[in-house]
Amino acid sequence: MNNILSSFHLNASATLISHSDSVDRYAIDLTPPTKIRDVKALAQDLTMYLNAKSISFNVSDGKLIADVFKKPIVQYHRLYDYTKALYPTVHTGSISLGKVSDDMHVFYNPQMDKNVLIGGMTGSGKSSLLKSMIEQFIWGSHTVYIMDTKRIDFAYITPENTKHVSIFSDFESILVQLRCLNNALDEMFARNFIPAKNTYIVIDEFADLMLSDLGRHIKNELMRIIQRSRAMRMYVILSTQRPSAKIIDGAIKANFHTKIALKVDSKLNSRIILDNPGAELLDGNGDALICSAACNMVRFRSFFV
Ligand SMILES: Nc1ncnc2c1ncn2[C@@H]1O[C@H](COP(=O)(O)OP(=O)(O)OP(=O)(O)O)[C@@H](O)[C@H]1O
Ligand SMILES: [Mg+2]
Repeated sequence: MNNILSSFHLNASATLISHSDSVDRYAIDLTPPTKIRDVKALAQDLTMYLNAKSISFNVSDGKLIADVFKKPIVQYHRLYDYTKALYPTVHTGSISLGKVSDDMHVFYNPQMDKNVLIGGMTGSGKSSLLKSMIEQFIWGSHTVYIMDTKRIDFAYITPENTKHVSIFSDFESILVQLRCLNNALDEMFARNFIPAKNTYIVIDEFADLMLSDLGRHIKNELMRIIQRSRAMRMYVILSTQRPSAKIIDGAIKANFHTKIALKVDSKLNSRIILDNPGAELLDGNGDALICSAACNMVRFRSFFV
């Protein structure tokens, strides 16, 4: 506030006297010949430079009081929890997906946010986002199955350093593994057994799988998993470079509660992922929009792993 007042050459100094989520109150001392109306005339400029919603002035006890009304805070609902911001919550299973600002994280809470669909053009940061998620799943000793036919991004993960992680990179073994997971689910349901840790199936380049000869079978197995797995703490995280309606059809979308778009090349692709335009305007390099079942769209920057 003081910087703005002085840059307009006003002999005035502001002191913050109260502060809340919705309004900051300043007392402004004026030195002649500065007039109250000089300060009031700046209302619009102050609103803009302070990134506020509005500003109002009144005189009380011989002082000029300015109330700066802040823009409403986005409701982060389940994804964002202020108390968790400082403590990445490995123990509850929540992980940070990235940052909204220096001290605000966007969280993924598997119980609430469930299966995750990630879309974005090549080089937008999908694999980096997946890596940052996998890192945190590993910290929490959860089981991770990575399915990636590209074989590059996750090559640094080896059985020696990560005992809960397995990687599958050819179509045949991916199909076999999905069948095994379905069998494991059958058994869990039969025994009414809910595991203590989560299982994550992370699929990078989903379109490559769908367009392969085994695409139809892989999709059937995956749909069976997706439809039954949540009760058994099993979650699917799927990323695709080609967010076309053919790859991400209605059945897939209906079963993914959380959608993340990195930069895409058209409004249409943004709509396919998020049901909203906007992702075509992102910067790339991990700049992302997230939409969960209970959440407004929130923009964040993912971590670069
Ligand atoms: N969070 C980030 N912050 C800064 N730079 C990033 C971030 N994420 C990705 N990048 C940059 O973008 C490059 C591409 O990222 P990444 O490999 O994750 O993209 P991708 O979407 O998986 O691409 P492709 O579809 O080709 O696999 C990275 O090498 C890095 O330079
Ligand atoms: Mg990639």
